[in-house]
Amino acid sequence: MPVEIQPFPRTPDSNVTFGAEVRHADIEHLDEKDFEAIHDALYKHQVLLFRGQKHVSPEAQYQLTKRFDPASDTYGHGKDVPNAKNSILHPDLKTIPSVPQVQVIGHGFVKELEGLHNIQLRHPHHRTFHRDAIPAEKDLDCTRFYRWHIDAALYGRHPPKVTTLLAISVPKGRRQTLLYDDGSGDTLDVPLGTTAFVSGETMYERLSDEEKHFVNTSRIEYAPHPYIWMSECRSFPTGLGLYTEGRELSEEQLPPIDQDMIQVLPMVWKNPVTGKPALQIHPSAIRKIHKADGTVIDDLKTVRDIVYKLQRPAISPSYVYAHDWQEGDFVLFHNRGLLHSVVGAFADDEVRIFRQCNLAASVSV
Ligand SMILES: [Fe+2]
Repeated sequence: MPVEIQPFPRTPDSNVTFGAEVRHADIEHLDEKDFEAIHDALYKHQVLLFRGQKHVSPEAQYQLTKRFDPASDTYGHGKDVPNAKNSILHPDLKTIPSVPQVQVIGHGFVKELEGLHNIQLRHPHHRTFHRDAIPAEKDLDCTRFYRWHIDAALYGRHPPKVTTLLAISVPKGRRQTLLYDDGSGDTLDVPLGTTAFVSGETMYERLSDEEKHFVNTSRIEYAPHPYIWMSECRSFPTGLGLYTEGRELSEEQLPPIDQDMIQVLPMVWKNPVTGKPALQIHPSAIRKIHKADGTVIDDLKTVRDIVYKLQRPAISPSYVYAHDWQEGDFVLFHNRGLLHSVVGAFADDEVRIFRQCNLAASVSV
């Protein structure tokens, strides 16, 4: 049976225009025709959901991820990040020994999984990254977006084209109220441990003409070693970027910097199949804005204020797709056309196990 693509049902109060379910796909044995259908659907719908895929091996997950960029081979953050103790990404990742491009993420203690033994997973909690956390007594009922991002090293490696996520164990039952806590009064009812997605294409479309001109002609310079650089910084309550408090690590505190590895990327990335432009900026890693006239905005607070104003409207509740994870869900998403965020706070006895794979791309954006 050929694969079937079913767009997610739309609800009248939602501005989410992306996402589709793929049926009848055998991820372990995809023929060329099925892969082509999935490839085109991915770029058209941005998020693809395959249900009932718990059996998919790490190797098959890696091979499907790689098929979107056959010349890619290394995990998106490189081989060292899971071992780099001073990177804020380090505690979140456990590498599968036989397929090092695939990481285990989640929450709780796992005795054995794919050659890993006695691992303690930790779902990132907003209190470790946000300046002002939700009070402890409300922590199981309420939550935040942890950190809006693109999966990308943003230093020396090109942003991955796609990311795959497989839900192996998912704690059941609870929902949480996501608080924006930015004075807007915005809230969102979310399933426990959801992954939240917003479309960079929608983020672009809803800009004014003047803003579109600005983003079309400006480029973002990312900080060197961004995840170490920002390791002492504290996030806004929306998870959409950082307060400017002078907490960024200085050049002397960072590993040696190779100027050739610093990334200066367009703000707008083009969908390779539909041609649609997407506003794609990793708000926590930004350092400078290079304008069309050759001038550079290097005041960090100004840079952050500009980007926040461009991005914030498109993370409003009606634009967010919060995936309700079921065990066996395999999600493939277009990393160069979306922003996403971890959400939620688990209790100590709630065990969540996911596998994640993305690959540093063979070409820049
Ligand atoms: Fe991610």
